[in-house]
Amino acid sequence: MTTLKDTYPLYLNNKAAQPNTDLEVTDKFTGKVAFRTALATPDVIEQAIAGAVRAAGPMARMASYERQAVLQHCVTRFRERYDELAYSLCVEAGKPIKDAEGEVDRLIDTFRIAAEESTRLYGEVQPLDISKRARGYMGVWRRMPIGPCSFISPFNFPLNLAAHKIAPAIAVGCPFVMKPASKTPLGAIIMGEVLAETDLPEGAFSILPASRDGADLFTTDERLKLLSFTGSPDVGWALKAKAGKKKVVLELGGNAAVIVDKDADLAYALERIVFGAFYQSGQSCIGVQRIIVHEAVYDTFKAMLVARTRSLVAGDPKDRDTFIGPMISEEEAKRLKSWIDAAVAAGATLLCGGDRDGAMLEATLLEDVSRNCDASKEEAFGPLANLSRFTDFAAALKEVNDSRYGLQAGIFTRDIHQVLDAWDTLEVGGIVVNDVPSYRVDNMPYGGVKDSGLGREGIRFAMEDMTEIRNLVIRRESAG
Ligand code: SIN
Repeated sequence: MTTLKDTYPLYLNNKAAQPNTDLEVTDKFTGKVAFRTALATPDVIEQAIAGAVRAAGPMARMASYERQAVLQHCVTRFRERYDELAYSLCVEAGKPIKDAEGEVDRLIDTFRIAAEESTRLYGEVQPLDISKRARGYMGVWRRMPIGPCSFISPFNFPLNLAAHKIAPAIAVGCPFVMKPASKTPLGAIIMGEVLAETDLPEGAFSILPASRDGADLFTTDERLKLLSFTGSPDVGWALKAKAGKKKVVLELGGNAAVIVDKDADLAYALERIVFGAFYQSGQSCIGVQRIIVHEAVYDTFKAMLVARTRSLVAGDPKDRDTFIGPMISEEEAKRLKSWIDAAVAAGATLLCGGDRDGAMLEATLLEDVSRNCDASKEEAFGPLANLSRFTDFAAALKEVNDSRYGLQAGIFTRDIHQVLDAWDTLEVGGIVVNDVPSYRVDNMPYGGVKDSGLGREGIRFAMEDMTEIRNLVIRRESAG
C-alpha cells in the first residue's frame, strides 16, 4: 500500500535540506495534516539564487547528450515511482486517483519530449548578401541558455505544470529555483529527489516551498533572467510589474468556451464536455466554463447534459469510482458557491448542483447567466459551467471573444468553413475542433492572449523562451 512520509525536505543546490518543518500540508479530502515540509527562509532563497548563478556556466557547457541523460533518468524513475506519485497528488491536491494517474502519464510524456528536444536545439545559416553592401557576408545563429531561471508553479497540476518549467530548463541548460504551490509542494519535492540522483552541476536546481512574502525574491532578484509563473491572472500580472528586466512568461487563467453546433455528434460532445467542465472539480485553466449550443439542438443537449452531470459520483478521491473530489480548500468552495448564488439572484437558472459541504462543491450547471456576473465573466476554477444558446455561428464566435481571457476554445462542428472562420476570429492561444478547450497534449504550444498570459509552454516553445539567440556574422575576405 502506498503511504506518505511524515516529513519531506526541500532541495537546496541539488541537495535535500530540512531547515524546519514549518509547512503543514493537508489531505484535501479529510482536512487532516498529511505531512510536513520545510519553508525556505529568505536566507535559503538567497543561497539557492547564488548557487544557480554559479551553476549557469557549467550547465551551459553540458553536452546535449548529458542533458538528455538527466531527462531520461527522470522518465525511468517516474515510471518506477508511478503509484507513489499518483497517490501523492490524490492526497495533497484532492485529485481523483484516475485523474492523478493521468497527470503522472503526462509528467512522463513531458520529460520524454524534453529528452528528445534536448538534442534538437538547432540554429540557422542565413545568407546576408541581400544588397551590395553585404556582399560576401553570411550569418549563423544558435541558441544560448538565458541563465538562472525562476519558476512558480500552481496547485492544480503539482507535477505536470512544474515539469513544464523544469524539463525545458534542463533541456537547454538553465539552472533554476522553483517555488511550488504551498498547498501542494510534494510533486515538485519528489522531482527534486529524482533530480538529486543525477550529476547535474551543483546549484543546477533548488526546489523551495516558501511563503508568498518570502517568495518575493523569485520575482525581484536581478540575477534571475527569466520568471515563468503559472497561476491566477491577478497574481501573475502583479508579479510581472515587479519583475524588472527579466523575461516573463505567464500561464494564467481563463473562462474557456465551447461551441456545440447543430451538426455535432451530441453523444460524443456530451461526454467530452462533462469531462472538460468537471474533471478535477473544474480546477484547470482550460476547464469548460461556457457552453454555447445551437438552438436547433439546445433543448435536447441541455436535457442530456443535466442528466449526465447529475450522474457524476462525488466523494473520496482515493476511491476509483469518484469523479468529483474536493476543491483545493473550503475557502475556494465558498467563493465559488457565492458566485453561483449571486448569478441565480441576478436571474440565472440553476439546472443542477449548487450545494456545498466543506470543500466539496456539487457539479453545477447554470443557464442564461448575465455577462456581468462573476460566474460568467471571471474564472470559476471549480465545478461550474454555464449554458447559453446561439442561432448564428458568427454570433457564437463573438460570444466566445466576449471575455477578458483567451486561453483555449473548443468547437464541435463538421463544417470546415466554420472551423476556418473560428481560427481567423477567436482571440485565444488555441482552438480545439471536435473536442473541448480542456484538451492538451504536452508538446503542443500552450498559452493565452489577453489576460490569460504571455508566451507559450509545450517544451520546444518554453525552450525558445529559456534561450537567447546569439548571432555570428562572417565576412569572407575573398568576397571582393
Ligand atoms: C492549466 O491548468 O493551465 C493546465 C491545463 C493542462 O495542462 O491540462
